[in-house]
Amino acid sequence: MKRKRLLTFLAAAAVLAFSFLLSLWIDGQIEQRKYPPPPTTAETPMSYAETTLSPWQEWPLILVNRTHAVPDDYVPPLFTLENGQQYDARIYPMWQRMVRAAKKNGFLMEAAYCYRSNETQRQIMDERVAWYRRQGNSQQEAERKAKEYVAEPGHSEHELGLAIDIHAGKNTNAEQLFKWLQANAWRYGFIERYPKDKVEITGIAYERWHYRFVGRDAAKEMKKKHLTLEEYLGQVN
Ligand code: DAL
Ligand code: ZN
Repeated sequence: MKRKRLLTFLAAAAVLAFSFLLSLWIDGQIEQRKYPPPPTTAETPMSYAETTLSPWQEWPLILVNRTHAVPDDYVPPLFTLENGQQYDARIYPMWQRMVRAAKKNGFLMEAAYCYRSNETQRQIMDERVAWYRRQGNSQQEAERKAKEYVAEPGHSEHELGLAIDIHAGKNTNAEQLFKWLQANAWRYGFIERYPKDKVEITGIAYERWHYRFVGRDAAKEMKKKHLTLEEYLGQVN
């Protein structure tokens, strides 16, 4: 009887050890890949291949802001999430890893708003201007205020599919989640794109929820030196 118990115990221990080693191996595989490979030519939409994009390796570093427009005919390879949102399929593995790590630390988060077409961006801008108008602002003033938070159509990172507006999930304290993201998102290649103390450089008001994928190496350096994407790329106006 004693022997049977010992054997059961050993078998359970072996299964546990195997599962643990398997999870380490899977994590290692994901780490090694860093980014998923670029789509093959067959999968690449023509308009994507024809853009004036940087080489494939550079895709996470495309700069889009008030002075840098989304490249003409830019069509990212989109992946649709369960909530219907879409983002560039190439950021999927790193986003998943970040979600998993956040969960391990007790935070649930959602990719609330991701890719937007040019038309959707225009609609959001129009709605925001109309809202400021209703608050009694002149057209000029309403447009100025709207542009603090909403990028002009053709100038939003959301049109790249590389930006994610993050919302806190169920029973998750938003303050703590954003604090965790500020400290850890770089590990997964994401940066807080519009920090409080860099409004002059980014041209956009503080948005603690807007994260941008730039790749792990860039994110690491930007975090270490506290740089915006503009500063990292030497493109401060
Ligand atoms: N809210 C950010 C700046 C955008 O509209 O892209
Ligand atoms: Zn955003």
